[in-house]
Amino acid sequence: RHNLNISSIQIFMLSVTFCNSPTMIVMVGLPARGKTYISKKLTRYLNWIGVPTKMFNVGQYRREAVKIYKNFEFFKTDNEEAMRIQQNITQNISNESPKTQSHNLERRAVINSFAKEKGYKVFFVESICDDPEIIAENIKQVKFGSPDYVDRDIDDAMEDFVQRIECYKANYKSIDDEKDRKLSYIKIFDVGSRYLVNRVQDHIQSRIVYYLMNIHVTPRSIYLSRHGESELNLLGRIGGDSGLSPRGQKYANALATFIKGQKISDLKVWTSHMKRTIQTAEALGVPYEQWKALNEIDAGVCEELTYEEIQENLPEEFALRDQDKYRYRYPKGESYEDLVHRLEPVIMELERQENVLVVCHQAVMRCLLAYFLDKPADELPYLRCPLHTVLKLTPIAYGCKVEPFFLNIEAVNTHRERPGVSFHKHTSVIIDTYLCQLSALWDVAYCASDGRQ
Ligand code: G3H
Repeated sequence: RHNLNISSIQIFMLSVTFCNSPTMIVMVGLPARGKTYISKKLTRYLNWIGVPTKMFNVGQYRREAVKIYKNFEFFKTDNEEAMRIQQNITQNISNESPKTQSHNLERRAVINSFAKEKGYKVFFVESICDDPEIIAENIKQVKFGSPDYVDRDIDDAMEDFVQRIECYKANYKSIDDEKDRKLSYIKIFDVGSRYLVNRVQDHIQSRIVYYLMNIHVTPRSIYLSRHGESELNLLGRIGGDSGLSPRGQKYANALATFIKGQKISDLKVWTSHMKRTIQTAEALGVPYEQWKALNEIDAGVCEELTYEEIQENLPEEFALRDQDKYRYRYPKGESYEDLVHRLEPVIMELERQENVLVVCHQAVMRCLLAYFLDKPADELPYLRCPLHTVLKLTPIAYGCKVEPFFLNIEAVNTHRERPGVSFHKHTSVIIDTYLCQLSALWDVAYCASDGRQ
């Protein structure tokens, strides 16, 4: 387990120390350099791989301290009262958080001395960009939604924000490769066209670096679909490696028509190694790549049983899974937690790619969806991923838009409710899809409000 709160071994000055030290990841950079974007994405990734991470934003604290934002003059270095407020904010955040954002040397020094005092590790992430087009695009994408600019004319807001950047420039010092050579950091130049990495201290920091070097901001969509209904789905049996049912084959053809209709450039298609995903992808008539990592959760001794048979023959196992579905591991099989670890290379490659259709399985699709929608571990195993429904995921601002497409081919419902929630076993796929749409709409709303920084 690579968990910041779980002991790790650190070799320091020839002595071996067991420590439990959190890491402060400190974002550095002028406004509109993607610091919030990187922080949110990194936080989501670290939480998904099981490293509990929380994000703190100086801007939010400033808005709480100074309720009404008038204009850029607040950020002028000769505005003594404002500078005092900013310093207090840095101090306060340091006192309560393992991560914060900083713009100048004094604030970096406060954070460093605070970390030293607490025994925290510090890793700086500096985003450097001087391309005016990228900066203007970033301001348009995320800053107009900011509470600072509610009800402000767009040109007026743009002008104010540009002036705000100038105020920060007066005080801004980039991490110095010579003077700061003892610090651990990554510098990201021009949204990832070049990187400089210095003194990576541990496994977590190397994973952060690896992740940041793989993400990109090119617009694209990821399509997630389960295989068409399988013969074992029809019998209510989990796992196995059966082929498609006649309705499943119809879905494969409908998926091909749907994907053609999307007119996607350079679409990559990925499947698992299992018959049902391969048969579904075959109907598309395009090359596809098979990933063993995309295989369905291994239900071990419960493979090819129905839920009723598991409850009857292995009642303890059945009850244990209901108690903690995320961590429960089937005897001789896997847990959802295992699955997330198995899927990490898939996520990393999805981050590197542009348009991709992933034809996968229920448990696998839940894990991938949880990553993109930032869903916590206890919700993950209950996310709704009905058969014969494509979820189109499109990155927007700081989140991800979800559009569900039910392709009008009936299928059995394979979703088992969280215990305590009563739902009729043969709930029709139409109701299932309706709920999926509702939850997807909720996500769109969530992402939109999440983008208001
Ligand atoms: O076991 C196969 C299923 O697709 C996973 O569903 O985790 O809700 O039991 P479940």
